[in-house]
Amino acid sequence: MSRSLSVVILAAGRGTRMKTEAPKVLFDVCGLPALVHVTRLARSLDPARVVVVVSAGGRDACRAAVAKDPASGAVEFVVQDSPLGTGHAVRAALPLLEGDSNDLLVLYGDGPLVRKSSLERLRSRHVEQAPGASLLIAEVDDPTGLGRIVLDDKGRVERIVEELDADAAIRAIRRVNTGIVLLSNQAGRRALLALTNQNKKGEYYLTDATELIRKDGHPVEAVLLDDAEEATAFNSTAELAAVRRLLRERIIRAHQENGVDFVDPATSYIDVDVEIGAGTRILPCTVIGKGVRIGERCSVGPFSHLRVETVLEEGAEIGNFTEVKKSVVGKNAKAKHLTYLGDARVGAGSNIGCGTITANYDGRQKHVTIIGPGAFIGSGTVLIAPTEVGENGITGAGAIVTKNTRIGPGEVYVGLPARRLKRKDES
Ligand code: UD1
Ligand code: CA
Repeated sequence: MSRSLSVVILAAGRGTRMKTEAPKVLFDVCGLPALVHVTRLARSLDPARVVVVVSAGGRDACRAAVAKDPASGAVEFVVQDSPLGTGHAVRAALPLLEGDSNDLLVLYGDGPLVRKSSLERLRSRHVEQAPGASLLIAEVDDPTGLGRIVLDDKGRVERIVEELDADAAIRAIRRVNTGIVLLSNQAGRRALLALTNQNKKGEYYLTDATELIRKDGHPVEAVLLDDAEEATAFNSTAELAAVRRLLRERIIRAHQENGVDFVDPATSYIDVDVEIGAGTRILPCTVIGKGVRIGERCSVGPFSHLRVETVLEEGAEIGNFTEVKKSVVGKNAKAKHLTYLGDARVGAGSNIGCGTITANYDGRQKHVTIIGPGAFIGSGTVLIAPTEVGENGITGAGAIVTKNTRIGPGEVYVGLPARRLKRKDES
């Protein structure tokens, strides 16, 4: 059984290089704020506690973002008064962790790509070797901007040098600090409290803790990432775009392994927590939001946007320039061209003609549209919600169905506003 662990996530940085006031860690990465990817990851390790270090200005927004995600579990927040460096940030969490004798894992709110398996490896090596600290490191082609790792002849960490403080020889090192470190409780605390800010930036660097831990008589182990990509964090919007691309590729690969056919993965944008059944085909230029569920043998795209709480049942088809939000599209139903379905339930086998719109919003409230199974909605129909179309109901092309209309089973509505068309045998 491995030793218990508490996690501290750093999220109080100023994000100067993003050129915005908003907390950097709340930028969206495939449907979740970067920070929430990290709180989820922390929770998945089953730690004793998860503490996020935030700035005073970012606290409420960070708390709200994490609270929205049940998978992140119970998370505590602590404010770092001013952003005096990564070491200073971890130190800010210590009063809250007073009396906590667990090892301390430090994660970064701007690094959402690290995998659970890598952290597990770090943890088991740490338990095995019992060093003062274990560092997750990476070997990268371009180490620009990152802390360089200097190893001793036993392959242990001698020190970490930040780029600004490095000479040419050190800058040539391609082994870099991911920032992620597992600190043994006592040695870690002592080092954190002893940090100084004698460097070019005048900050309390967490990275200096390694040297202090060594001087205190404890080795610092390095665990190399198998996949250096996991070390990618973002400091600028360009780097954020790179992080998103990497996560997106990972998400798509997982769906491909489940038998989903992406015609052009490069233009398929799939958020986290999306389910897609085997045999479904995703055509180019499609955006599929967090939590959408798509059954087997469906077809989506090209140019389709599936948003929050959308469910496509088996065999459903969503085509060109069609947006679906909070709607269930039944088995084998089709909405293939220029359509908006919002707050709608579309029954099995229905055909939603080109240019159909569910007018779900009256300016104050959203309303529901129900379309029965086997319905045929003519091109250019506007269904002003709340409305209902019964089983096998029909609307003619261009019908404007006013609110509270209930089209009965098999009835045909046409016109503007749409009125019931009498059967030939009716007088
Ligand atoms: C840091 C590391 C560097 C490593 C890199 C990996 C230090 C001194 N440097 O550099 O060795 O290669 O990460 O990406 O640790 N933060 C706070 N409070 C602060 C400062 C930062 O909470 O006072 C948070 C930020 O929100 C961010 C994280 O700590 O989530 C990292 O800070 P950042 O300024 O991005 O560090 P880097 O310069 O990237
Ligand atoms: Ca960073």
